[in-house]
Amino acid sequence: HRGSEMEAENQDKPHAIMVPCPLQGHIIPFVHLAIKLASIGFTITFINTQKLHQLITKSSPPNTTQSDIFTEARKSGLDIRYTTISDGFPLSFDRFINSDQFMEGLMLVFPAHVDDLVGKLVHQTPQITCLIADTFFTWPSMISNKYNLVNVSFWTEPALVFTLYYHLDLLKINGHYACHDNREDVIDYIPGVESIQPKDLPSYLQAPDTCVALRMIHKAIFEGVKEADLVICNTVQELEPRTISALQEKQPFYPLGPIFLLSGFTKTAVFTSLWSQSDCTQWLQAKPPGSVLYVSFGSLAFMSREDVVEIAHGLLLSKVSFIWVFRPGILGCDDSEILPVGFEDEIKDRGLIVPWCCQISVISHPTVGGFLTHCGWNSILETIWFNVPMLCYPLFTDQITNRKLVVDDWKIGINLCDRKPIRRDEIAEKIKCLMIGKSANDLRKNMEKIKGKVEDAVSSVGSSEKNFKQFIVDLKVKIS
Ligand code: UDX
Repeated sequence: HRGSEMEAENQDKPHAIMVPCPLQGHIIPFVHLAIKLASIGFTITFINTQKLHQLITKSSPPNTTQSDIFTEARKSGLDIRYTTISDGFPLSFDRFINSDQFMEGLMLVFPAHVDDLVGKLVHQTPQITCLIADTFFTWPSMISNKYNLVNVSFWTEPALVFTLYYHLDLLKINGHYACHDNREDVIDYIPGVESIQPKDLPSYLQAPDTCVALRMIHKAIFEGVKEADLVICNTVQELEPRTISALQEKQPFYPLGPIFLLSGFTKTAVFTSLWSQSDCTQWLQAKPPGSVLYVSFGSLAFMSREDVVEIAHGLLLSKVSFIWVFRPGILGCDDSEILPVGFEDEIKDRGLIVPWCCQISVISHPTVGGFLTHCGWNSILETIWFNVPMLCYPLFTDQITNRKLVVDDWKIGINLCDRKPIRRDEIAEKIKCLMIGKSANDLRKNMEKIKGKVEDAVSSVGSSEKNFKQFIVDLKVKIS
């Protein structure tokens, strides 16, 4: 009798398939969301690509026992199933260098693999009732319609960026789309966005029509997401209140961020890094509080050789201690011998250069006092949480728009992008403004206010927790 009761209970458990875009900045928030959902009784089937699985497995710390991302989470009783599929390219294909071809494949080839897998999975128990897919994908409504699943779209970037893509038609009508440097008048007609300058649009909206990423965005965010039943977003209501309210008039839109805080990540060991992480703790421990600058440009963007050389000299001139994440392949070509001759000898113990690290461990360390960043959205949310002001050097995509939020709206960072190309003396000067003196104090004070808002949002009665609960209520109504 008890057995059949348990079976019936199991039958009723909500079961969601989750499919992140196969990139570092996307898989991290998806994994946290999976853990959060599983911790409130969902069964999750998490679909990763074979390539990302291979990279994560290879980079896992040597003493780890994880066979997949969720091995440890399962040990603590969470029902998270894990499966991998091909993204349509051979494992040896370089997805970073050939990013246009890769994006095209995600749009045209990957959906058939997902369709095939979902077709096999739908007969599982408990029955799969929901698809939570990355907003960047072009196929979720096709799959959810075919298998009768509730279609939840997960946007891992700020609401401001979402709404700019969402209102592509308005940008086109007003001549602000793909207008490059031709227009300087502000854009003041996007619902919920007071004003934004054309130079602050995501790079894909400033680029010419032919861009593959833009075609994907057009199909996914401008058309596809409008068919989603529910949209969840890794942002915080109090940080983007007007933009979020305006979006909520169009579609059920739930700001749940920062998602890495909702999942209770510190309690569940998850390893999601695509590269092996160098341990910086010992090096950091020897430094005075707030004295170290952390430098990283994320997982995706390329930099020019000239910029890297200027940054190296700028770091030398600044006399500040630093950790520089120099991701292999960041130049998009051979990056050996890029640093100035004698650079490493000259910095001695003042600087540490690593290929990749555990960013959260570094920025949460009390000796870190500033972050020279590309303004990736995960990095921004993480650095707010650990009270570390930013020096902003956005490179492409949403990073351009994220800078506006950080510098112009919240005043928790300063620009390093006013003049291009960047020059070493300016870099050194800005690093000092970030780390010491009145400007640094002002940034820290503003940061405390912004962090306070985030802290409130993730408290048990805060907006992100409330929005999460509402999302679950609304999702269950759709499922039933
Ligand atoms: C990309 C886009 O660039 C970004 O703008 C978008 O919001 C998400 O996709 P990425 O370049 O990966 O993101 O930057 P970011 O969003 O900051 O994510 C990087 C993640 O990798 C962060 O969670 C960070 O903690 C982690 N990281 C980074 C490390 O663990 N180690 C490192 O050395 C650097």
